[in-house]
Amino acid sequence: MTQDELKQAVARAALRYVPNDAIIGVGTGSTVNFFIDALAAVKDRVRATVSSSERSTERLKEYGIPVLDLNAVASIPVYVDGADEIDPSGAMIKGGGGALTREKIIAEVAGQFVCIVDASKLVPVLGKFPLPVEVVPMARELVLRRLRALGGQPKLRAGYVTDNGNVIVDVNGLSITDPRQLESTINQIPGVVTVGLFAHRGANIALVGTATGVEERAFP
Ligand code: 5RP
Repeated sequence: MTQDELKQAVARAALRYVPNDAIIGVGTGSTVNFFIDALAAVKDRVRATVSSSERSTERLKEYGIPVLDLNAVASIPVYVDGADEIDPSGAMIKGGGGALTREKIIAEVAGQFVCIVDASKLVPVLGKFPLPVEVVPMARELVLRRLRALGGQPKLRAGYVTDNGNVIVDVNGLSITDPRQLESTINQIPGVVTVGLFAHRGANIALVGTATGVEERAFP
């Protein structure tokens, strides 16, 4: 199976978690694009969605799937999104696609976070994938210094501006043995909008695409 076929398989499997007539949170990325395609095939049983990026919003609207403002929605039963890495506790690195802030906001509102990944995203310890951090532009140099002091090698994502008008710094060289602690520490740096560590609110379920089929993992 190709990587795209694995992504497609987990995207389709995620439909099992989509309740009838509900408002669904939709993430961002190539795996989620397959999920949106799968959702379009059952769109009559989806009341509406809340989207984590302009890109996903555009794709959903192209299919005629309604997209609501999160402020108009009190609860979301399920949020489906990909990840750049996921560890054995369900903690993730996200933000490779730059949508981490809206992703984290929607995940916080959602009852269940269903993470859809191919098996290459499973890691024993987070940190091989550069950790994305969304930063208010005027705080860039301050945040770069602080991230270096934490042992990382941060680099500005060149030419990239988020949907929220901020920049992204990608941090290499971190071995993240305590993701909750590091998430809290980076959140404390003034100018950091969001760190792409999803540990305090990790995944509830991971659907993992493997050569032998889709494996399901539940996290307490
Ligand atoms: C976007 C994300 C994505 O979920 C993450 O980058 C995985 O993307 P893909 O499914 O393309 O591998 O966090 O901000």
